[in-house]
Amino acid sequence: MNNDIKEILFSHTQIVEMATKVAKEIERDFKDNENPPVIVGLLVGAVPFVAEVIKHIDIPVEIEFLRVKSYVGDTSSGALKIYSHLVTPIKGRDVVVIDDIIDTGLSMKQIINMFVADGAKSVKVGCMLEKKARHEVVDFDINYVGSQVGNQFVVGFGLDYNELYRNLPYIGVLKESVYKK
Ligand code: IMP
Ligand code: MG
Repeated sequence: MNNDIKEILFSHTQIVEMATKVAKEIERDFKDNENPPVIVGLLVGAVPFVAEVIKHIDIPVEIEFLRVKSYVGDTSSGALKIYSHLVTPIKGRDVVVIDDIIDTGLSMKQIINMFVADGAKSVKVGCMLEKKARHEVVDFDINYVGSQVGNQFVVGFGLDYNELYRNLPYIGVLKESVYKK
């Protein structure tokens, strides 16, 4: 698995620093809130990052996960499929949706629309990585960003290539030979 990686972009230590930064920003935004925010991690990719983030949040929060899928291979399919639902009623709640990476923003936009339609009081957005060069027009703010990343396909710490490499403890770039197999 490590042999398929061309370059490591973020070490495990750097990812923990990114998660801590995001955690402290969430804490700052919700510390005076009457009700705890609901942090919604998008399955499967956001699991390692959300798990790291919540360890560093020092105020009450609820944690939920939603199973979604948007990518096939290394290109965005644009269409998002939702395979599960939340247990917590979202009406009137402050929601913080967290994904592994935001590329075009099309997936996240659909999730935001869904929570707004469900009557959320507010919807904030976070991600481990933001691809700055994303090509679609995205009309929402990303409130919490671990780090920016260039327009290259990355794997590890939740990020997959065809469902593999999510268990790498770092984030890296795949060798081209892997795509050509
Ligand atoms: P978007 O709808 O284009 O923003 O795509 C977001 C989703 O695409 C993320 O949840 C990831 O699952 C996937 N994705 C985008 N870029 C990458 C990447 O470089 N590596 C792995 N998955 C990616
Ligand atoms: Mg994903």
